[in-house]
Amino acid sequence: MKFLGISGSAKLDSLNSVLLYNAFELLQGQHKWEVVSVGGIPLFEQSGEETNEVKKLKDKVKEADIVVISTPEHNHSFSAALKNAIDWLSVPLDKNPFRWKVVATMSATTGSLGGPRAQEHLWIVLKSLGAILVPTPEVFVVNADKKFVNGKLIDENSKKYITELLDNAMILAQALKYVMG
Ligand SMILES: Cc1cc2nc3c(=O)[nH]c(=O)nc-3n(C[C@H](O)[C@H](O)[C@H](O)COP(=O)(O)O)c2cc1C
Repeated sequence: MKFLGISGSAKLDSLNSVLLYNAFELLQGQHKWEVVSVGGIPLFEQSGEETNEVKKLKDKVKEADIVVISTPEHNHSFSAALKNAIDWLSVPLDKNPFRWKVVATMSATTGSLGGPRAQEHLWIVLKSLGAILVPTPEVFVVNADKKFVNGKLIDENSKKYITELLDNAMILAQALKYVMG
């Protein structure tokens, strides 16, 4: 399977980017994966030209079997940088690369209650684009600044749920391939 991880943070040392690297390192077997960030995507303008960064991201989402988005929680929602990137990808709506795409979401937040609100908002947006959301388990890495040591996720519970989420994403992607070719 080909996985694309999209970090919803523009920060270079983003906890969400690190979470995605850790998630994909949990994969067993022959899979391809890469992690990209929404940093560098210009501000969305409906009549504006797509930049190379936007085109590249669009192509990467198109080519992936499974997209995994990890977002920080900003003021009880997902990041504006992520919404901005999704808005670029969403046009034209009928050809948007999230249509029929298996998408799993997760979050790393430094707060102790962060993530659920951000991801719920993200689900509404992705659903409007026709994405196939992986329903369970919900993965919220809270107090994330204490859950990594030298870039390695040390929380066994989070690892267990991430593994389950990726397994469920692969089941969905295989089922979709079988039905839609
Ligand atoms: C503008 C702003 C708003 C934030 N709001 C929340 C919030 O509502 N809930 C929460 O748990 N954390 C909040 N945080 C903390 C983020 O969760 C934390 O910065 C995030 O985990 C960092 O992820 P990153 O390193 O991938 O950017 C906020 C941070 C910023 C900068």
